[in-house]
Amino acid sequence: MTLVDEVKARSDIVQVISQYADLDTRSRTPKAPCPFHAERTPSFVVFPDTGTWRCFGACSTGGDVIAFVMRKENLQFGEALKHLADLAGIRYEPNERRGDYESLYKANEIAAAYFRALLNSPEGEAARSYLAGRGIDTEAAKRRGFGLSPSGIETLAGHLKARGIGAGAAKAAGLVRQGQDGGWHDMFRGRLTIEIRDRRGRIVGFGARSLDGSEPKYINSPRSSIFDKSSLLFGLNWAADGISASGTAVVVEGYMDAITAHEAGFDNTVASMGTAITAEQVGLVRGLASEVILALDSDVAGQAATRNSLESVWGAIQSHRRSSSAAGGPSTLEIRVATFDSGKDPDEVIRGDPSGDEWRASLKEAKPLLDYLLETVAGTYDLDTPDGKAQAAGELRPLINQVPNQYEQEAYLTRLAGLLGVSLEQLRMSAPRSTYRRRSPGPMDREPPGANDAAASALNPDSVNAPEDYLLAAVLQKPELREYAMGVSEEQFRDPVNRAVFTILKDSDTLEDAALSGVGDIADKIERLRNRALPPMDHREMVDAISDCVLRLHQRHIRTIKAEENRLLPTDGKALPDDPQQAAALAQRLVETNDRLQHLFARRS
Ligand code: GTP
Ligand code: MN
Repeated sequence: MTLVDEVKARSDIVQVISQYADLDTRSRTPKAPCPFHAERTPSFVVFPDTGTWRCFGACSTGGDVIAFVMRKENLQFGEALKHLADLAGIRYEPNERRGDYESLYKANEIAAAYFRALLNSPEGEAARSYLAGRGIDTEAAKRRGFGLSPSGIETLAGHLKARGIGAGAAKAAGLVRQGQDGGWHDMFRGRLTIEIRDRRGRIVGFGARSLDGSEPKYINSPRSSIFDKSSLLFGLNWAADGISASGTAVVVEGYMDAITAHEAGFDNTVASMGTAITAEQVGLVRGLASEVILALDSDVAGQAATRNSLESVWGAIQSHRRSSSAAGGPSTLEIRVATFDSGKDPDEVIRGDPSGDEWRASLKEAKPLLDYLLETVAGTYDLDTPDGKAQAAGELRPLINQVPNQYEQEAYLTRLAGLLGVSLEQLRMSAPRSTYRRRSPGPMDREPPGANDAAASALNPDSVNAPEDYLLAAVLQKPELREYAMGVSEEQFRDPVNRAVFTILKDSDTLEDAALSGVGDIADKIERLRNRALPPMDHREMVDAISDCVLRLHQRHIRTIKAEENRLLPTDGKALPDDPQQAAALAQRLVETNDRLQHLFARRS
């Protein structure tokens, strides 16, 4: 849970606001004269179940508990957060946890240069010939970021120290660890190192392969504030252009597979680094590609872990397809699965046939994901037993149910019935069991109060905040577009972290302020937004996409207000409150809100 989530979850909004306003708490929506301006009839309302408040009177603003404290105490986002964290008794560690990213990148750069030099030194002789045996010459080794970590008395720890990198940064970057004796030890000893860069080309971590057959084969940098394997694709910095030019992203599993592919000219290849592919990784190429081909090693293709991850990826894609996305990317993303026979991995397939024909053919024959799952289901469950049939149906029915096209859905269902040897009616009648392993929500996919499609958002991190995220990512990556995004107000951002990012963007051009605000959540979010893949668009198209987001945020905002107004209506079936003055004011507002909404929708068409 991020600090922001925790603060919001543990703050009692009614109690916090009671400190500043004389709330009449007898109603399910406590009211008070607005604490932000002088008035006699109470037009300030708190909605405890969504954790929001709004003044329907003169100031007509609203927000969550953090926004309230910011406004009332005149605080910055980080200050308000700290204030609320203190009130709720949450321990708050300003700036310390995530630290300063730049020093981690710098430590990694210095380490990479050191590893590279060692590979090219006499000590690197054996490693160089190992690479040569795998088709990587000195030039290719340089291009692809290979190095050698020391095994003698010299250490990276010592080198970093000599270069002025403190133990704190070296540890935070995952380059060294502290031993029992308190001394600093290298994370990688005598291994072939591979630089792992993010999309923007910064070194976020290393993979390190053993050269003598010792286990584990790979040691990777530990998870850090700049390195999270499950939300990165190895090689995306080389592949982004190739992916958007071809419209296809090919995802392999290993570093070596991706490197061999690029050396052979297959420049749309990225690697998932051994972890079963995640929806987040697919999200990285969503804006660039209309198709993702998963090139799975044959040994893992049938494994349950792979199936699970494929299912969740598929679920995320389908829900993305359904939810209208303002992200401007292709509305559909096809996922296909390529497999290779005789236990070969992509590295071997590509090097085994220098013409590239075999590789191209495998990709061409890749099966749509659902077909793949159907075809391989017999290898996973024993379809001769009632139990096995039930399990197979339980896995596949929820996926088939999500196919948007009805006829296609019917066809899949018929195929599944055939595979299981049951009638279509029997299959329909069997109770579907959802097999989604929903992951717990992260900072990016917290459902903002009042949003309705909770299920879609659990599977699709971006659905609800797509316009917010897109808008911010576009402006962060292309500052020249800033003015087009300024048509929204802070209040229209539902996600408190997005709102804070927007405020910072609006008030200053120097994003380094974000670090100053001392909130790791904000710095993390900015980092993610900066790295987010945006669909290739020219300036005009970007401006249009941004304007579209602005409009969507306006519409959503008015719809929220409308929903709130509706909740002010009496629950006893009466059209309006008893008090004639209140009734008139509310009726007037309902009409005005409708007008605004209609006006906004008229602009769209
Ligand atoms: P080579 O054996 O050198 O061809 O490696 P590869 O890149 O083809 O790797 P492989 O297909 O065996 O595994 C796929 C990916 O899983 C690797 O690139 C690593 O990212 C990861 N991986 C493999 N083995 C290990 C291991 O022992 N530990 C960890 N942490 N990751 C591993
Ligand atoms: Mn391999």
